[in-house]
Amino acid sequence: MNFEGEKMPILAGDEMLEAQAHIWNHLFNFINSMTLKCAVELGIPDTIHRHAPHPMPLSHLVSALQLHSNKTQFIYRLMRLLTHSGFFVVQKLPKNNGKQEEEEEDGYVLTNSSRLLLKHNPCAVTPFLLSMLQPALVEPWQLLSIWFQSEDRTPFHTAHGMPFWEFLGNKVKDGEGFNEGMASDARLVMSVLLDKHKGVFDGVASLVDVGGGTGTVAKAIAEAFPQIECTVFDLPQVVGELKGEGNLKYVEGDMFKAIPPADVLVLKWILHDWNDDECAKILKKCKEAIRSNGKKGKVIVIDMVVGNNKRDDTFIQSQLFFDMLMMGLVSGKERDEKEWSELFKEAGFGGYKIFPILGSRSLIEIYP
Ligand SMILES: C[S@@+](CC[C@H](N)C(=O)[O-])C[C@H]1O[C@@H](n2cnc3c(N)ncnc32)[C@H](O)[C@@H]1O
Repeated sequence: MNFEGEKMPILAGDEMLEAQAHIWNHLFNFINSMTLKCAVELGIPDTIHRHAPHPMPLSHLVSALQLHSNKTQFIYRLMRLLTHSGFFVVQKLPKNNGKQEEEEEDGYVLTNSSRLLLKHNPCAVTPFLLSMLQPALVEPWQLLSIWFQSEDRTPFHTAHGMPFWEFLGNKVKDGEGFNEGMASDARLVMSVLLDKHKGVFDGVASLVDVGGGTGTVAKAIAEAFPQIECTVFDLPQVVGELKGEGNLKYVEGDMFKAIPPADVLVLKWILHDWNDDECAKILKKCKEAIRSNGKKGKVIVIDMVVGNNKRDDTFIQSQLFFDMLMMGLVSGKERDEKEWSELFKEAGFGGYKIFPILGSRSLIEIYP
């Protein structure tokens, strides 16, 4: 082929085919998201789980799912992709066909990842998956390049004409879906934290979960530590109707204006939603809210520290996706240690310590 007048390095043979496949696999990545969503909506992980401890043959899976009779033939193809992606494993099991010799049939079993998609798993990621893949959150990605060339604050704004939090306040169903997604993540994080790192709450008498959503984090702490007075602080649209009990209460408000006082303030998945100026404002309000009571209080941040888990490419990939997600939906970002450190200094804090104990995320303690 002749590209006359162009000084373009032309790939040939295998190199070109590999480059083409790389592009294909990247451009069709959305099929990975959507087939996983489909499998969850059809209840495939739960159906296979109900068949355990035996691998579930395709024929049984097909008849257990509520499919239109025209569509039963397609399940095999969905399962083949998701098996390739590590959500299921195929095991051979003998099929007695009534004749003397036995044929072999494929049966599906779950993997660790699909176990995390089971409905009754307390740490299930399913509500988070469904909330992130709802159409309103996917649409902004179609408009990314238009956003780059516009004045709009976020691609979400380009798609919906309003900021993310305002949208969630207006659309009750989307708001509930988002809150459920957050609550499911909070259950997973708290199960790790309370199992292995309970010590972070030692000696604490009062705690406010700032932007605490519907209260999953604070509830888990309130149950594990009956002596800690726990407050969930969030926008009226989130906590307005919620009632606390015992050592847990709900307070509505705006963290940019004032935060209720406590020994310890928790910020889980809050600072990554905001730009540096906004984060400095939130952190200054946190500093004002820390009760000294003669002891040193602290802020506990649960967020990513980009690049702090270099050994594991899965975690790095998650960090880069989340960074783009924060750009797409809100005006936030994922930060590396230098960026965190500058932010804490700017907000007037004296020091910090990073505990990389939550996979792609870390627990960061900030001291006044
Ligand atoms: C990404 S969610 C995290 C929820 C929870 N911390 C968790 O990780 O499960 C961010 C939370 O910040 C709350 N939020 C947003 N703007 C706020 C504001 N100005 N004041 C208080 N909370 C706010 C949202 O309503 C939402 O619950």
